[in-house]
Amino acid sequence: MRTNASLLVTGGAGFIGSAFIRTMLRKSEFTGKILNYDALTYAGDLSFLDGFHEHPRYRFVQGNILNQELVEKLILEEEVDTIVHFAAESHVDRSIASAMPFIETNVKGTLTLLEAARKFPHLHFHHVSTDEVYGSLGESGAFNENSPYRPNSPYAASKAASDHLVRAFAQTYKVSTTISHCSNNYGPCQNKEKFIPLMIHNCLMQKQLPVYGRGANVRDWLYVDDHAEAIWTILKHGKRGQVYDIGGKTELSNIELLQLLIDLMESKRPGNYKSLIRFVQDRPGHDFRYALDTSKIESELNWKPTISLKDGLMRTINWYCKI
Ligand SMILES: NC(=O)c1ccc[n+]([C@@H]2O[C@H](COP(=O)([O-])OP(=O)(O)OC[C@H]3O[C@@H](n4cnc5c(N)ncnc54)[C@H](O)[C@@H]3O)[C@@H](O)[C@H]2O)c1
Repeated sequence: MRTNASLLVTGGAGFIGSAFIRTMLRKSEFTGKILNYDALTYAGDLSFLDGFHEHPRYRFVQGNILNQELVEKLILEEEVDTIVHFAAESHVDRSIASAMPFIETNVKGTLTLLEAARKFPHLHFHHVSTDEVYGSLGESGAFNENSPYRPNSPYAASKAASDHLVRAFAQTYKVSTTISHCSNNYGPCQNKEKFIPLMIHNCLMQKQLPVYGRGANVRDWLYVDDHAEAIWTILKHGKRGQVYDIGGKTELSNIELLQLLIDLMESKRPGNYKSLIRFVQDRPGHDFRYALDTSKIESELNWKPTISLKDGLMRTINWYCKI
């Protein structure tokens, strides 16, 4: 991708999409334009982009990715050459309560964007996916780009279906595509329904800290700005049609992560947060462990995470303490 490309970013008012836009617009190397296309669901918040609304190379349009006509109109209007697709229903627990919105947005929405993209043969389509499509690991091992798909939640299944559509459009219609699977992200601007913001928020409010099961489930954590940099690296240097796994190589059980978070919270705002921990009934089909082998993106594209878990968590806590 050229450094002066015109990007259409879907879901740019969400947690990771907004971090990507902030990262890009701060970069002196990137001289192109960004069109943020977002439906502003409960998860979208334009205040995440405060300070950028008047940026001369940024524009926001409210719209649904299911609206193919509007997407095509905007591609023409802004001379878009790259779509970076973040928009999704993203919360596993919501998908367990009601799967249909996940099929609508994640599957039909991605299909709609691909249908639009294939009308413009110059376009590149980057699809942001998750490690959850690979399913769950035991105590050891790690997934890589060749691991079989074994999604266990309706969310993961909907993301898996969207990945397959991206691959199929590359094979069948020769759409230029890349896909990235990332592990758990954390950082500022994440919705309070997710683990880390919920825990910080509840500590601040002196509310209970609910932990599924005994907190033994293991996740790999990546600071959101590192994810944004990884996507930029893939856009610049990734090979068309390729898949890249992105991870932080920072595995912790949920209870270990919470203990670290509590220690950092206590260093900032003293309190007996540990006493607020409550173990609650486990999530149905809860994946035990995710881990990614990130050697492909490291060796082929020279990307590595740069922000340590402690540093990233402190930045996150500072952000939530300010709002
Ligand atoms: N959060 C993570 O840890 C994580 C990890 C790996 C991959 N991902 C993937 O990264 C992407 C972004 O995740 P996130 O955590 O920022 O999600 P988020 O829920 O914070 O944001 C999603 C954004 O998409 C928008 N959106 C939802 N439905 C839409 C629609 N139909 N049309 C247009 N916009 C719509 C929302 O308004 C919101 O701004 C998702 O595709 C997710 O699957 C997330």
